[in-house]
Amino acid sequence: MNILNTEISKNGFISLKEKDLNFKNEINKLKKEKNAVILAHYYVKGEIQDIADFVGDSLSLSQKAAETKADIIVFVGVHFMAETAKILSPYKKVLLPDLNAGCSLADSCPDNDFREFILKHPDHTVISYVNTSAKVKALTDIVCTSSNAVKIVESIPKDKKIIFGPDRNLGNYISRLTDREMVIWDGACHVHSEFSLERILEQKKNNPDAIIIAHPECPKPILTISEFVGSTSALIKFTKESNAKQFIVATEPGVIHEMKKLSADKFFIPAPGEDAECACSECEFMKLNSIEKLYTCLKYEQPEIIIEEKIRKKAYIPIKRMLDLS
Ligand code: 13P
Ligand code: SF4
Repeated sequence: MNILNTEISKNGFISLKEKDLNFKNEINKLKKEKNAVILAHYYVKGEIQDIADFVGDSLSLSQKAAETKADIIVFVGVHFMAETAKILSPYKKVLLPDLNAGCSLADSCPDNDFREFILKHPDHTVISYVNTSAKVKALTDIVCTSSNAVKIVESIPKDKKIIFGPDRNLGNYISRLTDREMVIWDGACHVHSEFSLERILEQKKNNPDAIIIAHPECPKPILTISEFVGSTSALIKFTKESNAKQFIVATEPGVIHEMKKLSADKFFIPAPGEDAECACSECEFMKLNSIEKLYTCLKYEQPEIIIEEKIRKKAYIPIKRMLDLS
């Protein structure tokens, strides 16, 4: 294996110039040598999903990270997901192939502003979506994901007031489902909040048999026209079990890879965003991950996720509460 011609760039990521490497075989070899596990989110490129040891949504990935016996976790997803793995498994080395893989939703909730928000609403139980930084989790009473948000909200006694952050669309959706009033942080994901209602309705007109399905991070008008709303895993399960043959999918189109695997006879149409130039709505952060970066990351064991222990300990408590309830 020729790994000459490598160089380390400013952010610590090692880029490969040698293109003729058989990355997949090398990744498998390194995985065994180093007792590493590759965890990937359904939004990453299909070719990466295919070589991962486990592909899942935020909840199942955090459960895997908590229980794995591996020495190294390579988290092919975005930063908050790898951070959650590190919070749960502090003695393992947690790697993220590209440190620039952030999340617009997590970024819409800076910890200092969230702290002030909490101070303005004393006596509230703070529920934070997993799409948050470790520092925001450290300010939180209980974490949730889109898979378990209803259950988490319903676990809070009815007489307790709730702060929900950072996703306003998910927060409002859960508030309607549970009939609980909540103080909701005004954050959003740039992918899910940008779907075009008009263009989806146009798709439906052209494909009248297609069922519209959406992730609850989408705004209310998109959820209202959707025949099914659910987390990433729930959407995948729905398309597998449904008798319908066509679906308009209003979430990150990476999930279609798994949907097609489970239902080769069905047809999936990615819902379009507002940008008329683009047919779909990809999360560019998730798509920063590549096989090459995964290889170099595993080979050189960097970039590594490091969290200050004081923050990690505080952030662990609300994640553990969520896992215990899930
Ligand atoms: P899930 O919790 O459904 O995996 O969603 C994660 C995410 O980033 C949604 O945009
Ligand atoms: Fe974050 Fe949105 Fe990308 Fe999910 S799709 S990781 S919420 S930016």
